[in-house]
Amino acid sequence: MANDDLYHTMRAMPKIELHRHLEGAVRLSTLVDVAREFGIEMPEYEAETLRPFVQMMPDEPRTWQNFLGKFRTLRQFYLTPAVIRRIVAEAVIDAALDNIKYMELRFTPKALCNITRSSFGDMVRWVCEAGTAAARDHDIDVRFIISMNRHEEVEIGQQVTQAAIDNMGVGVVGLDLAGVEAGNPAAPFARILQYGRSAGLRVTLHAGEWDGAHSVWEAVSFVGTDRIGHGIRAIEDAGVVEVLRTRQIPLEVCPSSNVDSGVVPDFASHQLPLLWDAGVKITLNTDDPLVSGITLTDELVRVVENLPFTVDDVKRMMLNSAESAFLPDVERRVLVRRFQGALFPLGA
Ligand code: ADE
Ligand code: ZN
Repeated sequence: MANDDLYHTMRAMPKIELHRHLEGAVRLSTLVDVAREFGIEMPEYEAETLRPFVQMMPDEPRTWQNFLGKFRTLRQFYLTPAVIRRIVAEAVIDAALDNIKYMELRFTPKALCNITRSSFGDMVRWVCEAGTAAARDHDIDVRFIISMNRHEEVEIGQQVTQAAIDNMGVGVVGLDLAGVEAGNPAAPFARILQYGRSAGLRVTLHAGEWDGAHSVWEAVSFVGTDRIGHGIRAIEDAGVVEVLRTRQIPLEVCPSSNVDSGVVPDFASHQLPLLWDAGVKITLNTDDPLVSGITLTDELVRVVENLPFTVDDVKRMMLNSAESAFLPDVERRVLVRRFQGALFPLGA
């Protein structure tokens, strides 16, 4: 398939995004507007001046330190509830414009409250209400996953989990553990995540991204999780891959992010084909579209262009996403049937 045709095929395909951070999904032009309006100190108020501070640049060393460094800049922009509402609405609209029909958007209340000093509960409600209102007008369904960072205090995780539970009525469906993986085990968060689960939330953990297969093992055996963010370094231990396969624990794979944060040296070396061939349940996602400078369409195109996958393989991964959504059973079955019909009208 010619490059243009492949792009148009992927663009037109109805899509699902399960792993996207709001903080990494902001429009660059909005950051410039906010910098101007609030006088955030910059040499000049231009997108290209700001870009290297919030997006991985071609000549920049691919390390998780540089990757997470972008979020330190981004934290300066969450200045008022109105700014945050704008950022959320635009993130939902941009997903809809990319023909994403269902998205689980995750965000870290601690990061968004850094400047506003609002309560976690208020912040979660504002984000969910703004996101749901934008979704209603743009032919997309959105739910929310609340993130806490491994490298921050467990106490924060506890407060954030309570805010998530209190906002299940406005679209919160899950909890996530993100942040610096190596040296920060998930175990101290196990009790909190279990508490969230007992209240009806689902759980996904970033694991096997910036640390090895033992971190995936910790997530599935000790902490307990419904999905894994990334999980690709499970490939370093055949026993862990076997657990993922037998339990069909979905991996939220984000290949461009993995290149950008130095987990793999380049796209063509990605572990995705090995995991797929081993029978692991794969979903495809963007992680941080602004930081990586991509859309979900771009990501799907790259998977077909750089790895031994066909468009039909990508459609199967999209169906996996429908089956892995954190929706109540009945709603998830409706989503699966809808995507089955749209992606494989003649039967899979
Ligand atoms: N926060 C935003 N992107 C992340 C990633 N890829 N891993 C861990 N935490 C993150
Ligand atoms: Zn992530």
